[in-house]
Amino acid sequence: MRSHVISTKNAVKTIDPLVVKNLKVWFPIKSGVIQKTIGHVKAVDGVSFSVKKNETLGVVGESGSGKTTLARAILRLVKPTAGEVRFDGINIPKANRQQMKTLRQKVQIIFQDPYASLDPRQTVSSLLREAMHIHGVVKSKSEATEKSLKLLRKVGLDEEHLYRFPHEFSGGQRQRIAVARALVANAEFLILDEPTSFLDVSVQASVLNLLKDLQKDLNLTYMFITHNLAVVHHMSNRVAVMYLGKIVELADKNTIYRNPKHPYTFQLMAAIPVPNPEAKKKEILLEGDVPSPINIPLGCRFHPRCKYAKEKCRKVEPNLVEKDGHFVACHSEIDFSAEMRTGESADG
Ligand SMILES: Nc1ncnc2c1ncn2[C@@H]1O[C@H](COP(=O)(O)OP(=O)(O)O)[C@@H](O)[C@H]1O
Ligand SMILES: [Mg+2]
Repeated sequence: MRSHVISTKNAVKTIDPLVVKNLKVWFPIKSGVIQKTIGHVKAVDGVSFSVKKNETLGVVGESGSGKTTLARAILRLVKPTAGEVRFDGINIPKANRQQMKTLRQKVQIIFQDPYASLDPRQTVSSLLREAMHIHGVVKSKSEATEKSLKLLRKVGLDEEHLYRFPHEFSGGQRQRIAVARALVANAEFLILDEPTSFLDVSVQASVLNLLKDLQKDLNLTYMFITHNLAVVHHMSNRVAVMYLGKIVELADKNTIYRNPKHPYTFQLMAAIPVPNPEAKKKEILLEGDVPSPINIPLGCRFHPRCKYAKEKCRKVEPNLVEKDGHFVACHSEIDFSAEMRTGESADG
């Protein structure tokens, strides 16, 4: 395993592979004939976190909280408005062509919908070969076929699948193909954006377990985005909770589930149904709509939905403050642990 190390006079410090600082992605809203900018959709609005080598950082939040935009901004698929994204120390928004080329090999994204991400006119063989060609990782067609076979077996498919088209596969198999393609060029870091939420509950688990096995096998680091609290619990080492473009709480998984300090996290955790094998959905269902990222409330952006909100919360935006690896952005930091113990309901 490679580690990225800087030495200073007195200490040797390992750099986390991904470090994000105060990242903002604001989409302009234009109006009129001259397309004047009249406001912004603040999809990501000042996000800071890092992902450690070989961990899975879960990112959870309601639909519209900015998770996909965050993923796209990390990979420079959308232009950040401000902030830094460092991978192996390189600031991605400012990276040059050569640095971007390396980065596109090392950091891969898996999207929610494998129908949309796989070209329907290409066989598995041809789409894997194309990916290998883009990254310049094989020299001949036979080498490509050999490597494709190895990759297919790694993701639980086989030779018989090599010359089929995407529509000939089930949803779970298609997502396996997307994973194989992400791994053609020695990827180190996968951003998984709701990779199983299009799949039947019955096949979700097998794809999630495959991802876990691959992580161990290949020393991968994951950023795992989901709105499903049971899935994030199953997959993550640490969990970041996003609300309206910001991280409101980040801690290791057990702390988030047993000792949340942010009222939003507490509400999310309390919304997980009691363990019930019949329960199909463990999604986030809170009262009240997520306010629009066009009109973000003043002060703490969660205050209109927070029953603990006080005067300060309406005026001053809380910073994300760390104590022993537990980051919270809340003026109150209430201790919910007693309530959580009675409701130990997340599966794992
Ligand atoms: N290209 C875009 N232009 C304008 N608004 C966008 C664009 N992409 C996303 N948004 C808005 O940004 C917010 C966050 O979206 P998204 O990142 O997809 O959230 P999530 O993945 O958490 O559901 C939403 O309000 C969405 O409508
Ligand atoms: Mg999304």
